[in-house]
Amino acid sequence: VKRITTHTVQEMKNRGEKVAMLTAYDYSMATIVDAAGMDIILVGDSASNVMAGHETTLPITLDQMIYHASSVVRAAKRALVVVDLPFGTYQGNSKEALNSAIRIMKESGAHAVKIEGGIEIAESVSRILTAGIPVMGHLGLTPQSIYKFGTYTVRAKEEAEAAKLREDALKLQELGCFAVVLEKIPAQLAKEVSESLDIPTIGIGAGQHCDGQVLVIHDLLGINKGFKPRFLRQYANLYDVMHGAIGNYVSDVKAREFPNEKEQY
Ligand code: KIV
Ligand code: NA
Repeated sequence: VKRITTHTVQEMKNRGEKVAMLTAYDYSMATIVDAAGMDIILVGDSASNVMAGHETTLPITLDQMIYHASSVVRAAKRALVVVDLPFGTYQGNSKEALNSAIRIMKESGAHAVKIEGGIEIAESVSRILTAGIPVMGHLGLTPQSIYKFGTYTVRAKEEAEAAKLREDALKLQELGCFAVVLEKIPAQLAKEVSESLDIPTIGIGAGQHCDGQVLVIHDLLGINKGFKPRFLRQYANLYDVMHGAIGNYVSDVKAREFPNEKEQY
């Protein structure tokens, strides 16, 4: 199989083919995601929520991201693997950002990093790119800044914030980012940004006009039972499937029906 690269993703936009991106955090899940034809696997810092049970993405560490990323890299035969730089590892100064990105690339074998923010982090983006490390941007709802905003509601509904997002998107492209995630912004704004940029936009809660889409795998599979925002389409109900299977196992053990004669040595 031919590996998807940042160039492949650009070619997809050029010929109007949508880009499919999904998160994964471990070897077994990433194996399935890769085999199903995913273009990009994102080792998101949403691992902090769905893998570790934290309320926000802030607590996850660089070492923990590298552990998740290296597991995913071993599984991905075709997909481009992008890894989030976690909170506190790139905002301080550009040298720290570069060191964090280098650690991810070196220790996990991933192909690119993603960082949240626009003009504020321009220096960090540039410095990482200078080392030959591809960077994906992330604008709109940026969960690492949740305490600044206070809520996970739709961003850039007001014109001032929308104007800043348009500028940030152009800036990220100008700096050399190969793509940019647009999270939870009005579909019309995402359409404008997608049309004005040469690089692909990957949307989550940003409508149908983005050049690609991304979801968190636990949400897509319906493992997080309670999480049903409007933008999410649940393609399976794995919570119920798994709960049922595991419940049956408990019952069988209690009833002495597992294992049976054929299931022993
Ligand atoms: O961490 C994550 O899963 C993400 C996607 C939702 C874009 O950043
Ligand atoms: Na993230």
